[in-house]
Amino acid sequence: MTTATQCPFVARSLPGDGTPLTPSPTLAAWRDEAAFVPLDFQDGHEGLVATRYDAVRSVLEDPRFSMRPGRMPVGPDGAGSGDSAAVPLEAAGDLDEAGQRSDALNLLNLDGEVHSKLRRAVTARFSVRQARSREPWIQAMIAREIERLRTLDRDIDVWRDYAQPISARTHCHVIGIPEHHYETFVALFVEESTAQQKYDFIRALLEERKNNPGEDVITDLLNNPDLDRIEVEGLLRLLMGAGRDSVAYLIATASVALLTNPEQLGTLRADAEKIRPAVEEFMRVGAMFVTLFARTALEDVEIDGTTIPAGTSVSVSPVAANRDPEHWEQPEEFDVERDAFGHLGFGHGIHGCIGQQVARVEIREALTDLLASFPNLALVDAEQLTPQPFAHPVAVYEAGHVLVRLGED
Ligand code: HEM
Repeated sequence: MTTATQCPFVARSLPGDGTPLTPSPTLAAWRDEAAFVPLDFQDGHEGLVATRYDAVRSVLEDPRFSMRPGRMPVGPDGAGSGDSAAVPLEAAGDLDEAGQRSDALNLLNLDGEVHSKLRRAVTARFSVRQARSREPWIQAMIAREIERLRTLDRDIDVWRDYAQPISARTHCHVIGIPEHHYETFVALFVEESTAQQKYDFIRALLEERKNNPGEDVITDLLNNPDLDRIEVEGLLRLLMGAGRDSVAYLIATASVALLTNPEQLGTLRADAEKIRPAVEEFMRVGAMFVTLFARTALEDVEIDGTTIPAGTSVSVSPVAANRDPEHWEQPEEFDVERDAFGHLGFGHGIHGCIGQQVARVEIREALTDLLASFPNLALVDAEQLTPQPFAHPVAVYEAGHVLVRLGED
């Protein structure tokens, strides 16, 4: 058995020379080296990063790891690794006292029973069955977005013009934000706003929805006798922000993967049914989280013969785990027909993604319609084909613009 130690002379930061579809070779080198290798954190802590599939899963399943203190790894520039204003929920600033208490209830900062109670309050609305029941609405909404694209007399940015509206509209639908608030939601949650502005919106919305129940998250939360207002507002603040960008990123990145791999595109064009498993392959090769929110060992934890000392923070890398040759055959190959279920693009375990079923529907329907509507679709330019700064300090790939020509004549 070995003990994971952090050598002060081998300082390591996350590599910035990768792109979503071609991650940094440093991640592969770390994976070859050991299950856990040293990683520096922005507060000066010397922790670890796990890059092997089995080790990543083990950390994510293990309740002996805490989400606190919520350390961020050192990025490629040697300091931060992205826009720190986006750290899970932005700094409280002059947010009122109730807002600060709600912000403290971010699921990604919580452990144990407090986390389970809040998570349980929203999971039913995100089940497979619920996601399936949303399909007709999502399909109709996407059909309208396609018609809107046809009216734009220019090259299209798949990310901004297509994927972002799809994910924002679905978010509103599932959460229960009425259509007449869509533009305000976009201004507050897709564009920039303060935490106070977000809470003011959430509180006004709760008042409005109090006597207007529906099939949505807000109705569930308002009817839950185990939750107080602070908890309800905190959950909504998290859900309104969480995952929306990720869905848009995946639609944009899958488009790049297909348009730069004509054979794979041809396979999907020849048989539309193949899109379902293909979504898992998009999630595997296009995972956006280079690392997830770091976990910290509450006690000494042994994984794969390595002892991680109590107090050590461990980042885990879905991007690296999704290409671990011990788990995947020919992991570097993008193959829409492979069985990619079990990828870690949605995380795994205790904090695994709540919205993954509805995200799958959005990605699948968005790509199906885009391909079916524009048989001559061609890539003009994609920012993400060259390394970009991370979008978030935990180290998240940025979608960037994905310019395409619709090819309509
Ligand atoms: C392609 C789209 C998405 C991706 C790639 C994604 C990815 C992830 C990942 C990797 C985690 C785990 C983070 C960690 O363990 O550190 C996570 C958690 C979470 N996701 Fe998603 N997500 C997506 C869509 C969504 C959507 C649509 C929603 C909700 C509307 C959502 C809500 C959440 C929430 C609330 C958590 C925290 C769960 C917890 O801490 O218990 N996600 N997501």
